[in-house]
Amino acid sequence: MKSVQNTPPIPHYPKPVSSKISAFMTLFKKNRSWLNGLYEKSYTMKMGEVRLPTVTIYLPNEPDLIHRVLVSEAKDFPKNPILHDVLEPLLGESIFTTNGEVWRRQREMLTPSFEMVRISKVFDLMLDAANDMRQRLAAYDPTEYHDLDREMTFTTADIIFRTILSEKLTEEEGEKIVEAFITYQEESARLGMLKLFGIDGLVTRIRGDKKRQQSGETIRNTLAKIIKPRYEAALQDKPVPSHDILSSLLKVIDERTGKPFSFKEILDQIAMLFLAGHETTASSLTWTLYLLALHPNIQSEVHAEIDRVCTTEQLTAEQVKSLHLTTNVFNEALRLYPPVSFMPRIAAKTTVMRNKTIKPGDAVMVSPWLMHRNSRYWEDPHRFDPYRFDHPEKITKYTYFPFGLGPRICIGARFAMQEAPILLSTILKEYRLELKPSFIPDVAGRLTTRSLNGMPIRLIPRGDKR
Ligand code: HEM
Repeated sequence: MKSVQNTPPIPHYPKPVSSKISAFMTLFKKNRSWLNGLYEKSYTMKMGEVRLPTVTIYLPNEPDLIHRVLVSEAKDFPKNPILHDVLEPLLGESIFTTNGEVWRRQREMLTPSFEMVRISKVFDLMLDAANDMRQRLAAYDPTEYHDLDREMTFTTADIIFRTILSEKLTEEEGEKIVEAFITYQEESARLGMLKLFGIDGLVTRIRGDKKRQQSGETIRNTLAKIIKPRYEAALQDKPVPSHDILSSLLKVIDERTGKPFSFKEILDQIAMLFLAGHETTASSLTWTLYLLALHPNIQSEVHAEIDRVCTTEQLTAEQVKSLHLTTNVFNEALRLYPPVSFMPRIAAKTTVMRNKTIKPGDAVMVSPWLMHRNSRYWEDPHRFDPYRFDHPEKITKYTYFPFGLGPRICIGARFAMQEAPILLSTILKEYRLELKPSFIPDVAGRLTTRSLNGMPIRLIPRGDKR
């Protein structure tokens, strides 16, 4: 097995505080990222318990417990309604937050749409977006540091636009949507935290909730403008693009009513696919670039792999499949910075876990962030080492689940695992990455795991020795 450089820097993460009390205080004061509420023991505990005035939160942190919550007893641990409340202005009643029969129907409705738009069909659309990204990067000043988080967010949003709606994202729309998302994330993280502490009603009455509502509306309106004419054309059987996800959704007939889905239902699902499909991938790509910039020797190995594999002008699907190290670097970024750092559930019935009695209504939070960095299952867990994934058989089951597990597992995992190596190889084929000296990312766990102060990286054309 290869090893990383002799004294590799540990990628930054919010240092856990020493005790549960100070973690609680930090969380309450900062109320902007749940990662601020972690203390040292959080990383090795088997089952955490946090008693708040309004709710008790349990954090199962053992593979068998994770399997129970997400897989074998999933129906007894539905999605926590806080998630629905926080995301409702943006997503309405979408698959990401619904439960029970409504969720089952929506999952059935979406699954064929993903199968119809086979991954190979979207490959060319992803390549087109990657080529446009390449042109934007060529205009960057190689002597300056640029916030690559912005670029990743724009590019992944553009890919979702092209594959779901057959539209290119314009720079102007992109700016508007990215800004709206930043506001939405901020406001919803605050609201989620206030809800946990049971003071959301009071604070919202004083402060209002306008910013969150407005940013949700901005995004929905942008999507609605594109969907509306296609929805109306489909009702009148007029010709419309037929290869994207929207087109397959427009063809679905609701088994209960025998009718196509309403405009609002379609808009809810598209808004959700837009959020789930670009935020997560953007987050993981940004962290991948950070990790590579922090580890120049591994970056050189990735360069060598890309030079060896990507020998043609246009990338092919076969080449992407052969990018093993590049993919494992991405897997390791998903381990260290899982975009979905926690999965909030609620107990539907009384159950016992490690001698603790969980009652209906208690919150149960499963966290890839904690499990992926648990020293009982991962050697030197905070260290970046993509070679761990050379031997997947050595990874303990249910300790690595960036895409979730069980019935609610991510519908877009294959999509993301194709998109990531395409974009990474497009960037690294041409550039060496250099992180701004002494930059420390402000890691926050919100809807997704993001760096609040961006990701300033210099793109140095390869071969250029500056
Ligand atoms: C690196 C990229 C991605 C990561 C890490 C990721 C992660 C996840 C996770 C952890 C869940 C489960 C949440 C839970 O159980 O509470 C999820 C659900 C979901 N994801 Fe992804 N995702 C990614 C990309 C995508 C893409 C590209 C799409 C679509 C284009 C997508 C669509 C969805 C949908 C629809 C669900 C809800 C499934 C359900 O509840 O039945 N995701 N994702």
